[in-house]
Amino acid sequence: MPILKIKNLIKKYPISKKKDKVILNNLNLEVQNHDFISLIGPSGCGKSTLLRMVTGEEKPTSGEIYFNGKILNDISTEIGIVYQRYSLFTQFNIQKNITLGTHLRIKAGENRSKIKADFDEMVELFGVEDLLQKYPFQLSGGQQQRVSIIQALINHPKILFMDEAFGALDPFTKMQLKGFIDEYWKKHKTTIIFITHDLEDAITMGNRVVLLSQYYKKAPNEEGSKIVVDIKTPLKPTLNEKEKLINKLKLDGFNPNFMQNLEINF
Ligand SMILES: Nc1ncnc2c1ncn2[C@@H]1O[C@H](COP(=O)(O)OP(=O)(O)O)[C@@H](O)[C@H]1O
Ligand SMILES: [Mg+2]
Repeated sequence: MPILKIKNLIKKYPISKKKDKVILNNLNLEVQNHDFISLIGPSGCGKSTLLRMVTGEEKPTSGEIYFNGKILNDISTEIGIVYQRYSLFTQFNIQKNITLGTHLRIKAGENRSKIKADFDEMVELFGVEDLLQKYPFQLSGGQQQRVSIIQALINHPKILFMDEAFGALDPFTKMQLKGFIDEYWKKHKTTIIFITHDLEDAITMGNRVVLLSQYYKKAPNEEGSKIVVDIKTPLKPTLNEKEKLINKLKLDGFNPNFMQNLEINF
């Protein structure tokens, strides 16, 4: 059974009193346990909109989302999210920022030594031992993002979403964080959906690329984004494979010449 299944999903937003605009046009996607998907698409294609529906923040106009076989009706704690903007509480030090998320587990009576073990593991894996007593303003962007990722992972969510989470980072920091995420994914066999508009990031993260695009060739009267590519990708692509994949994604989903709704009637 797929851990996440998106079926015939349509999302429209009103653009006037009388008219809606289709943003997501009939999406179908099955995510298997331990998939590591790069969900890529041009800016504005609806990636974050899709995420808001999967996390239960917004409802689809029609269609269903199943999480572990059950229809998703509410916000699920089994989903972890990292955004581009760091999610740290400025008034607390890093240690507290990390442990805040575990309070519910303590309340629920979970063994404290297990929670401590999770804390120690994350701190070591993401290399933040020396930052624990510092405050967010004393950290670089990359360090803050490491802590945001730990916050999202400390309770071991079934799925981790990263929405343009590396968007504000320099190339070296990005590479380092990619390594950490990869290590966590392999160790915990978690499921990850890495959302990006960066072609290079998409093909160097994970083992599957899903391309969502408002630009596609064959449907002149349709509006809204569709999934136009869904392929397995090598974990460590060679330069040649990288180049081929990037060209394919550019051609299939990043070419506005294939824009399907040139006229928008308000
Ligand atoms: N609440 C909303 N009301 C109306 N339009 C919206 C709303 N949220 C997003 N949109 C529109 O939906 C489209 C997709 O946005 P978004 O999901 O943020 O794209 P992406 O994350 O791929 O860059 C954009 O055209 C955006 O303007
Ligand atoms: Mg977005």
